[in-house]
Amino acid sequence: MLRLLTATAALLLLLPLAAGQRFRGFSYLLDCGAPAATTDARDLRWDPDAPYVSAGTARALPLQGLLDPTLGTLREFPRRPGAKYCYEFPVDPNRRYILRPTFFYGTAASPPPPAFDLIVDGTFWTAVDTAADRLAGSASRYEAVFPAAGRSMSFCLGANPNYTESGPFINALQVIQIDDPVYNATDFRTSAMGLIARTKFGSTGQVERYPDDSFDRHWQPFPDSKHAVSSTHNVTSVDFWNLPPPDVFNTALVAEQNAPLVLQWPPIPLQNDSYYVALYFADTLDDNSRTFDVNINDYRFYENLTVTSAGHSVFATQWILSGLTRVILSSKSGLPPLINAGEVFGLFPIGRLTITRDALALESVKRSLQNTPDDWIGDPCMPHGYAWTGVTCQEGLNIRVISLNLSSMGISGSISPEIANLTALTDLSFANNSLSGPIPDLIKLGKLERLHLHDNKLNGTILQTLGRIQTLRELFLQGNNMTGAVPQNLLNNNGLTSKFLPGNNFFPRPPR
Ligand SMILES: *[C@@H]1O[C@H](CO)[C@@H](O)[C@H](O)[C@H]1NC(C)=O
Ligand SMILES: *[C@@H]1O[C@H](CO)[C@@H](O)[C@H](O)[C@H]1NC(C)=O
Ligand SMILES: *[C@@H]1O[C@H](CO)[C@@H](O)[C@H](O)[C@H]1NC(C)=O
Ligand SMILES: *[C@@H]1O[C@H](CO)[C@@H](O)[C@H](O)[C@H]1NC(C)=O
Ligand SMILES: *[C@@H]1O[C@H](CO)[C@@H](O)[C@H](O)[C@H]1NC(C)=O
Ligand SMILES: *[C@@H]1O[C@H](CO)[C@@H](O)[C@H](O)[C@H]1NC(C)=O
Ligand SMILES: *[C@@H]1O[C@H](CO)[C@@H](O)[C@H](O)[C@H]1NC(C)=O
Ligand SMILES: *[C@@H]1O[C@H](CO)[C@@H](O)[C@H](O)[C@H]1NC(C)=O
Ligand SMILES: *[C@@H]1O[C@H](CO)[C@@H](O)[C@H](O)[C@H]1NC(C)=O
Ligand SMILES: *[C@@H]1O[C@H](CO)[C@@H](O)[C@H](O)[C@H]1NC(C)=O
Repeated sequence: MLRLLTATAALLLLLPLAAGQRFRGFSYLLDCGAPAATTDARDLRWDPDAPYVSAGTARALPLQGLLDPTLGTLREFPRRPGAKYCYEFPVDPNRRYILRPTFFYGTAASPPPPAFDLIVDGTFWTAVDTAADRLAGSASRYEAVFPAAGRSMSFCLGANPNYTESGPFINALQVIQIDDPVYNATDFRTSAMGLIARTKFGSTGQVERYPDDSFDRHWQPFPDSKHAVSSTHNVTSVDFWNLPPPDVFNTALVAEQNAPLVLQWPPIPLQNDSYYVALYFADTLDDNSRTFDVNINDYRFYENLTVTSAGHSVFATQWILSGLTRVILSSKSGLPPLINAGEVFGLFPIGRLTITRDALALESVKRSLQNTPDDWIGDPCMPHGYAWTGVTCQEGLNIRVISLNLSSMGISGSISPEIANLTALTDLSFANNSLSGPIPDLIKLGKLERLHLHDNKLNGTILQTLGRIQTLRELFLQGNNMTGAVPQNLLNNNGLTSKFLPGNNFFPRPPR
């Protein structure tokens, strides 16, 4: 978790750029809850979030003179335990994205901020707790790097039933496509990365960010008057796969002569886990080089690292860290060691998704209904504990939908024939709604045990195939406007509890 940016922090020089600058590729800058687009001091244009989200309500904070204009409004979501509320974005399925949400619940005078979860596609990312930042008068920023899981990406806020007060909210969201080599040492088929620290050593000035950083990554200052130096020579950052901004090389921390440089970095204790660590170096003197060892805690991270004025970066993708971390640079050649910048990310596993066939079927079901629950977006089943309202799943070899229960929800529309693709369903209920049209052929639902469609406005006839579903134990169709004859295979099924009347116009009339 990264904490910074405040209503009080000074902001950045203005640079003469084309109005409403955007990033390359599929990228989104959203000012959540805002009625119209705004342009910030760096000339980045922030759009309203409404086109990307269907739940929640906008709220304006009663604050004046915010240096970050995107903090002035937020979107709040209902406190419904277990619901996840998703933004959905078209993305390039072959690329990776930085996601950077910002949370600011208002000043300490307003009620305490709720805690909630962040979810990307089927993956639990982190819990958001903004209470400490809020006491400090600061906004809370989080950042992660995720691969696209398909042609769209969902970013969701989860109302976790395990937190006392969980009504999610969000003020701003950046989704920025990164170039392929950036962080490519991470295996994004299995892992995503959550930012812990991104630091410009020796800097006492502003946070280094866009436009110097092409992806608006924020490089935090790390002052240390005893060791800080500055440099004016140019480092060509395209030589670094991670594309650090050129200006992070204009400051450094340098060891004293004949002593190692010892940094406590990142500045927070870490839980015992494996981390992605990248360190960036460039000799501050032109046409110069120096050689030193890099140790992290008691382990050799890199031996005999030779750093030239052209620059060098070293990284580890699975480095075990625990508690407070010490980075130690020890000289091997005449000149003392130095360091310019560093990044640490936690790694977490990419979660599984609902089987595509079930997810597509539910999308069709949703399209043919009106007034479906406001959390019917994002993955239907995942992560665990965050299935769509009315959807129950089984997390086996495949993740399947086993129950769909939308009874008494004020839903209208018709039942999509593609519901029959949910072949793992055992329970299906749309009871007490306003559904119209026919009941589609459900013969493919070979595990269906309970079918409750009573008290709707369904019409048409009962298909004979319904009686061929061997597992069916309960069939409630009363209170509709159906016609025709009830198939014999249903009437003859002694193991079936059924109700056809009152309401329908079956002929001959089935026994009551
Ligand atoms: C990462 O990108 C660099 C630069 O394009 C390339 O040379 C390297 O092979 C890539 N590494 C992986 C693991 O794909
Ligand atoms: C650095 O590069 C820029 C252009 O890329 C150039 O204008 C500037 O003079 C260079 N500075 C030094 C110290 O070489
Ligand atoms: C961290 O966890 C690993 C195994 O997961 C264990 O072997 C190691 O002792 C732990 N280290 C600390 C400092 O707790
Ligand atoms: C590092 O340099 C020392 C001499 O300064 C040498 O003895 C050692 O073998 C080198 N280690 C590696 C891994 O190259
Ligand atoms: C809430 O806690 C229970 C028990 O620890 C856990 O099984 C469940 O998954 C949690 N729910 C969420 C949404 O994290
Ligand atoms: C659907 O949910 C309602 C209310 O929660 C419940 O009464 C009913 O038994 C459920 N139906 C099925 C088929 O699970
Ligand atoms: C039917 O649904 C409505 C809401 O749409 C609810 O008020 C009513 O209590 C429900 N009736 C039954 C019998 O569940
Ligand atoms: C889903 O159902 C539709 C219509 O019943 C069918 O055309 C389609 O092939 C099915 N898709 C899958 C993946 O089974
Ligand atoms: C069923 O109702 C729809 C209107 O909801 C109507 O268009 C259709 O003709 C009806 N079908 C039958 C078989 O009555
Ligand atoms: C039931 O269907 C008939 C035509 O089949 C129609 O005249 C009647 O209005 C419908 N009733 C309701 C309650 O929808």
